Amino acid sequence: MLPRLRSGTVHVGGVSLDNHLILAAGILGTTGASLARMLENGAGGVVTKSIGPYPCEGHTGPCVVEVDGGVLNAMGLPNPSRDFADELPLLEGKPVIASIYGGSAEEFSTVAGWFAEKVVAVELNLSCPHAAGYGASLGADPRLVGECTRAVSSLGIPVWVKLTPNVTDIAACGLAAERGGASAIVAINTVKAMRISPELRRPVLGNRFGGLSGKAIFPIAVRCVYDLYEACTVPIIGCGGIATARDVLEMMMAGAAAVEIGTGVKDNPRIFRDIGADLYSADGIPADELVGCAHD
Ligand code: FUM
Repeated sequence: MLPRLRSGTVHVGGVSLDNHLILAAGILGTTGASLARMLENGAGGVVTKSIGPYPCEGHTGPCVVEVDGGVLNAMGLPNPSRDFADELPLLEGKPVIASIYGGSAEEFSTVAGWFAEKVVAVELNLSCPHAAGYGASLGADPRLVGECTRAVSSLGIPVWVKLTPNVTDIAACGLAAERGGASAIVAINTVKAMRISPELRRPVLGNRFGGLSGKAIFPIAVRCVYDLYEACTVPIIGCGGIATARDVLEMMMAGAAAVEIGTGVKDNPRIFRDIGADLYSADGIPADELVGCAHD
C-alpha cells in the first residue's frame, strides 16, 4: 500500500505553501486570473511564466507540439517584462513565486528587484534549453549559476534556482546554486529535443529544437533529484512529468521536499485536487519521513 502524507502548511525554500504541489513555470502562468484559478483548484503555490529584462514575443511558430509521452515546446520565453507586475495585485498575500530570467547576473538582479516586494520568492530560470543567451546558456556553467544566484540572493529574498538536465553533472550546478545562497533547487526544466516531419522534410518546431516535458522525462527528473540530494543540503523541488500521487511519493523518496507540476495540468486542470485526494489523509505520516528515504 502507498503511504499517505499528513496535510497542512508546508515550509520549503523560505516559503509557506498550502500543500506540497506547486504549479510549474510556463503553464497557465501568464495572467493573475489563471494563477488564481490554479490556487483555487488546489495548487499549494504557483510559479509564474518566466519574466525577463525586456518584452519578448518568443520564437516563430509552431511553438508547441504534442509527442508520445509529453509535449515539445520552443516558446522562446514570450513575456511582457516589467508590465507583468500588473497581474500581481489580484494575487496579493498568495504563495506566488516569480520565475525570472536574464542574460547576466545584473539582469537577473534587476528583474528580481521589480518583483521582490510582490511575491514570496523568485525562481531563476537558468535552464530553458532553447533561448540563445538565456536559460541553459548560463545554467550549464556552474560558475554562472553561482554568480546569478549570488546577485539575486543579495536582495534578501528567497531564491529558487531551476536547473537544466542537459548537463553531464547536475550536482555541480546544484552545489553552485547552494553556495550562491539559493533557498531551494528546482529540478528539472525540459530536456532538449526535436522532431522532424517526414512529410515536410523539416523540423516540426519553428525554432527547430525545443524542450521535452511530460511523463517521458519523469525517470530523468527522478535521477537528477537523486543526484542533487546526494550532493546538496538545500531543499530540492522535484519537477518533470509528475502526474499522480505515486509520482509525488517517488520524487520525495529520491529527495524532493515538494514538487512542481506543469504538463500534467494540460491533461487535467484539476490535477492538484485529484493528486491531493490520493496523497493526503488525516492520519498520514510527515513528509520528512519519506524525503530522501531511497538513499538509506
Ligand atoms: O519558452 C519558454 O517560455 C520556456 C521556458 C523554459 O523552458 O524554461
